[in-house]
Amino acid sequence: MSKSVFIWVARNRFVGQGDRLYVGVMVSRSMILAIAAALTLVACSPDDKEARRRAAGPNPSVAALARVANAAAGAKLFTRCSACHSIGRGAPDFGGPNLFGVMGQEIGQNSSRFAYTAALQRVGGRWTPERMDAWLADPRGFAPGTAMGIAGLSDPLDRADVIAYLQTKR
Ligand code: HEC
Repeated sequence: MSKSVFIWVARNRFVGQGDRLYVGVMVSRSMILAIAAALTLVACSPDDKEARRRAAGPNPSVAALARVANAAAGAKLFTRCSACHSIGRGAPDFGGPNLFGVMGQEIGQNSSRFAYTAALQRVGGRWTPERMDAWLADPRGFAPGTAMGIAGLSDPLDRADVIAYLQTKR
């Protein structure tokens, strides 16, 4: 009870007074932003996407979006991936490789059984949130010639939600 009253006060103070004031608070007081974002997360159901988007601020970085990302919303979005990807530990590859544990893994190596393209394997390095964001935005731009022939997720918050979901699977 006391927790929800506190969230109500915080939302009115940081979000309720219009975008301009909120942006000023965000830029000058990153700690307050972090607390507001955390409270927003606590208060948010998977569907209050616009409130989460506002909480991330204008032109948010991948890290700023990660602070308001929602793994449950990402799980729903993953239905767009599950035609080609399993996500359970040790589950079989489909048209694409199994994705359990992919965050932090070497790019193009998550499933030892999968026949990756050279296009993806020559990218090199590991899957950081920033690189996963770039891949999911535009697979063929990230790895020209890749066999993952989807258009990509155009909404940065959708990508952050999917990344948050992938991060729970390890
Ligand atoms: C039509 C099938 C298809 C769909 C849909 C699809 N993918 Fe893929 N995905 C692939 C294929 C094929 C590869 C391997 C690409 C290559 O080798 O060039 C891949 C590779 C990947 C990898 C790299 C794995 C590694 O080992 O480094 C990630 C991460 C990934 N997909 C995430 C996703 C996500 C998240 C979605 C949903 C938004 C998605 N994919 C939708 C087919 C698909």
